[in-house]
Amino acid sequence: MTDAFRSSRRDLLRRAGALAALSIAGATVRASQGFAAARPKFGSYPFSLGVASGDPVGDGFVIWTRLAPDPFDRLSVGEEIVPVIWEVASDARMQKIVRRGTKLATRDLAHAVHVEVRGLPPGRPYWYRFRVAGSDASAIGQAWTAPELGAPLDRFRFAVASCQHFEQGYFTAYDYMVKDAPQLILHLGDYIYESSWGDPVRRHDGPEPVTLDEYRDRHALYKTDAALQRAHAHCPWLVTWDDHEVDNDYQALESEDWQAPAAFVKRRAAAFQAYYEHMPLRRIAVPRVEEMRLYQRSVFGDLVNIAMLDNRQYRSPAACRSKEDGGGQVVTAACKELFESGRTMLGDEQERWLTGGFARSKAIWNVIGNGEMFSRLHQKTSQGEEGWWTDDWNGFPSARERVITALARSKMPNPVFVTGDIHSFWVNDVKEDFRNPSSPSVATELVGTSITSAGVPYDQFAALLPGNPHVKFFESRKRGYLLCDASRKTMTTDLRIVENVRDPKTPDGSAGRFAIEAGRPGAVVA
Ligand SMILES: [Fe+2]
Repeated sequence: MTDAFRSSRRDLLRRAGALAALSIAGATVRASQGFAAARPKFGSYPFSLGVASGDPVGDGFVIWTRLAPDPFDRLSVGEEIVPVIWEVASDARMQKIVRRGTKLATRDLAHAVHVEVRGLPPGRPYWYRFRVAGSDASAIGQAWTAPELGAPLDRFRFAVASCQHFEQGYFTAYDYMVKDAPQLILHLGDYIYESSWGDPVRRHDGPEPVTLDEYRDRHALYKTDAALQRAHAHCPWLVTWDDHEVDNDYQALESEDWQAPAAFVKRRAAAFQAYYEHMPLRRIAVPRVEEMRLYQRSVFGDLVNIAMLDNRQYRSPAACRSKEDGGGQVVTAACKELFESGRTMLGDEQERWLTGGFARSKAIWNVIGNGEMFSRLHQKTSQGEEGWWTDDWNGFPSARERVITALARSKMPNPVFVTGDIHSFWVNDVKEDFRNPSSPSVATELVGTSITSAGVPYDQFAALLPGNPHVKFFESRKRGYLLCDASRKTMTTDLRIVENVRDPKTPDGSAGRFAIEAGRPGAVVA
């Protein structure tokens, strides 16, 4: 090797090094220019809708936020695409960051951000927050990874919410729920309401939403409630919907007012997308061709298995629908359609998924997060005939029978339906044969009341109780939620109430406490 060669090689290396440095610097410059170009100049705090986590599994969870400097001006995020930095820490002060990344918030998802955090150790608490350039960080939310599948778990506390009409009351119940310190919150639907009635304490943003932007506005309005934001930041949620996320009493592609299916499918798709954009949901729930996969199962150690159902998207049309009102009604046995064996509440695929899971579950408690009442509610028409309400499981007797048969056959331990929709507390024994009150109980049903939505008429429903001996408790005069404590031997539920949803400082209380003993379906006063 000659000196000349050495020297020319050195030059070559030097030049290569300089080139590399230049290209790195160039990339840095380009990146920072790109970032500067997208740097949002928000007029106000962009995390006005709060943060949320959901769907905890053994190695992670979903975290969510949506940029909305002005929640009621969809164009308040000036840029098409905004990089959002997310951080997950193992301490509440966000000092020990264990995961960090950047996700692009895009206008086509209303600048919502969903991050599936993975690869963390099981059974641990975590904290998270979001940042964008030139703004304060978001609130800090708390999440956790699920205990290892099948690992012994002694206790699990969860709360069950449903039905939060924004106009009908303040969401103070959520502040009491946070004080109760549940590890998980289940929401069983009517997270938003599309329509208005009653005497409002505050107003919706407009008439019934139909378009995507109108549903986005409605979700944004609900999300501005500070108590709701605190409950989302408190712990992970599991969510499903009922009808009002789209339209009262709708059934798959049938609207209450007989809208043409082509128009209603568009409306439903808009409502589904806005729902996805505002909930801490996984990629599997991204709406596709006007459908959205929402039902899912979560397992916590060896103690609790929770199947969240979608009772709206796949159901058969209401039996003997009236031409005047295509929603729920009370029909008699003269409606032959009601008893047809092909009628479905869940759709074939979801029903197979649900009942197939019964035999496989090893958990001590098997919770079914269910939109509308599962138990038979015997009632009489004004002519004194046996009546069937068509909008809940009473309107799907053959589908209900199939689920009960599968429960009885599988011998899955301790099935507990937790249910929303009816704006009242119910504690029910689910009977193997609904016609025979002394037939064995196969499950227990705990029906939460509503966060705010007005209760069903008390006297009218209380009058049904003598004809429904499987109903252990009923109360429709109070708003609130269920607080459930699972241990290896019992599951207790406190029927938590707030005194007056029209008073934002309302005191709280309890309408009763019930316990289910493992191995013995049916709740007793605790
Ligand atoms: Fe409701």
